[in-house]
Amino acid sequence: MGEAVKKYPRSAYRILTKQNKEFLSYEDVLAGAHASMKRMGISYIDYFLCHSPNPDFDMQDFFRATNKLYKDKLIRNVGVSNFGPKSLEIAIKTSELPILFNQVNFSIDNDDIFSSGTYDFCIKHNILIQAFRTLTNIDANEDAKKMLQILMIKYKISKQQLVLAYLNNYKDVIFTIRASSKTHWEEIKQAMEIKLEKSDIEKLRETHVNKHGDFGELLLI
Ligand SMILES: NC(=O)c1ccc[n+]([C@@H]2O[C@H](COP(=O)([O-])OP(=O)(O)OC[C@H]3O[C@@H](n4cnc5c(N)ncnc54)[C@H](OP(=O)(O)O)[C@@H]3O)[C@@H](O)[C@H]2O)c1
Repeated sequence: MGEAVKKYPRSAYRILTKQNKEFLSYEDVLAGAHASMKRMGISYIDYFLCHSPNPDFDMQDFFRATNKLYKDKLIRNVGVSNFGPKSLEIAIKTSELPILFNQVNFSIDNDDIFSSGTYDFCIKHNILIQAFRTLTNIDANEDAKKMLQILMIKYKISKQQLVLAYLNNYKDVIFTIRASSKTHWEEIKQAMEIKLEKSDIEKLRETHVNKHGDFGELLLI
């Protein structure tokens, strides 16, 4: 990352990085942020996230450390990842900064953010949902697969675009998507503009109710 961004002024890009969930003591979080900045050759981090809750640690320590990092002007925003309501409760009580977003697995293969109460908690507390693995497992759910086949013909778009258009219809959801071609990025941008009919949104919703993904357990910690 450091190599990629060094020719640009610091104001031209924003860096999001996460603290490893095996190193969540106060001292380790401070050390993690410093090491990350050193590796990338930057003097501050725009978004610093806790990668996942870990019951082996006092979760307040991550936020005590981010309070200090913010005061020292080393981070600009704090966020979390894979946090369910119980962990989020600790986060909002301990963090002096608002929790900007919660990076979670959200796609057509599971409804963990809904069944765990994570989505409702985030909406209530103005925490954005940042969806990951939005495109990774879209063929895993046979019910969704059939519905995607029908609707992609109707809307004349790819199944990936259809999944993104569907997920983008949820309030306060943003994305972190991995794509390695310009064509894919163009398709992603187009998908963000596609409006699906309400009845089609409901049909897609029904295909992933009560299905569970690989990251669901973390939302219960
Ligand atoms: N917090 C966590 O615990 C966690 C866990 C997993 C991932 N993440 C983060 O999530 C981000 C996304 O990674 P991900 O693993 O979740 O992958 P993803 O975004 O679900 O899927 C990436 C795959 O989708 C393909 N793709 C992208 N645009 C496409 C398009 N328009 N049409 C067809 N295929 C398309 C890509 O292919 P091409 O490469 O060919 O474009 C790539 O194979 C990463 O930044 C990762 O660090 C976070």
